[in-house]
Amino acid sequence: MKRISNASLKHLNSFSVEARAGHLLELESEEDLQTLISEHTFDAASDLILGGGSNIVFADDIEGTVILNRVTGKRIIKDTSAGVVLEVNAGENWHQLVLWCLDHGLSGIENLSLIPGLVGAAPMQNIGAYGVELADVLDSVLTLDLKSGTPREFKQQECHFTYRNSRFKSADAGKYLITGVRLCLQREFKPILTYRGLSEELSTMGIDSPTARQLSDAVTRIRQRKLPDPKISGNAGSFFKNPMVSLTKADLLAREFPGLPVYPSDNEAKLSAGWLIEQCGWKGRSMGRVEVSEQHALVLINKGNATGQEILVLANAIQASVRDRFGIELEPEPLIISQ
Ligand code: EPU
Repeated sequence: MKRISNASLKHLNSFSVEARAGHLLELESEEDLQTLISEHTFDAASDLILGGGSNIVFADDIEGTVILNRVTGKRIIKDTSAGVVLEVNAGENWHQLVLWCLDHGLSGIENLSLIPGLVGAAPMQNIGAYGVELADVLDSVLTLDLKSGTPREFKQQECHFTYRNSRFKSADAGKYLITGVRLCLQREFKPILTYRGLSEELSTMGIDSPTARQLSDAVTRIRQRKLPDPKISGNAGSFFKNPMVSLTKADLLAREFPGLPVYPSDNEAKLSAGWLIEQCGWKGRSMGRVEVSEQHALVLINKGNATGQEILVLANAIQASVRDRFGIELEPEPLIISQ
């Protein structure tokens, strides 16, 4: 296990914001997981388990310990003619996993190509994009109880997945260390093309009936066009969740604001936060060292050496505009570390 005191977190968050941790523990093997449980009493108030850092804003330092679970490895634990159950350790890179599945003729997560971050963070917020959510392919989440060290497996239904949320991010935050996931992957590829822009992208590529790899390529092209690369411009992807409102409210808003994208589901409707923010004139605008991306109004960018506090100042200003104009409260998507 690597141990560092007074560690910089700048290279451990995709916003590239400077913040410090009292201690940093990097777990590199299964034995390190056990050592952590026996040596360290996790305190959810001052400690933090950090994945790839692609969905976090450090507006303050971490007084306690930051734990990085970098234990890699994957194994097929069930193999049938139809497909497999693949167990993947939390420290694996998500996009590399997608590519590995494509190389091994296993489909199910190709729509989730190029999502930054590590496998262990995927169930936290039920990662989702281009018509697929982790919940659609997840068999179970493997965890260790941070107090007792007891392993516990949560089957899909027990994870309480909703849009960008799970029990691990809400009711059970700070209770479990996610050590891995089990995914149900198929040998026969059935493309999921419910996201309209995906079929359009494939048409542009001259493809009628895509292979899994072509679908992954199409997703990658869309992401690269729409979302700034965090390696070049510090960002955390979508900064706000798309707001859910009642069908009645969505209907009223759609009448008042023609052009508002509305995506109805069972008894609610999802609105497009990007559209609301763009309508308020924020797209491409900066406040100090933080900018609203010109490519996508839902993405805030660190233009260089911005602090987490500065990111929150812009986020608050955007929330105020959207509240004033549309009466809608935008909720940040990343975890915000602030005293
Ligand atoms: N739009 C605008 N202006 C913008 C951006 C978007 O008007 O600057 C409108 C357009 O009408 C567009 C619609 O918003 O058609 C939807 O935009 P997009 O398809 O990019 O999807 P999104 O709802 O903004 C969500 C996820 C993304 C995910 C995409 C594709 C959330 C918070 N974000 O974005 O996830 O890649 O759908 O499925 O749900 C992330 O979580 O970091 C992320 C990038």
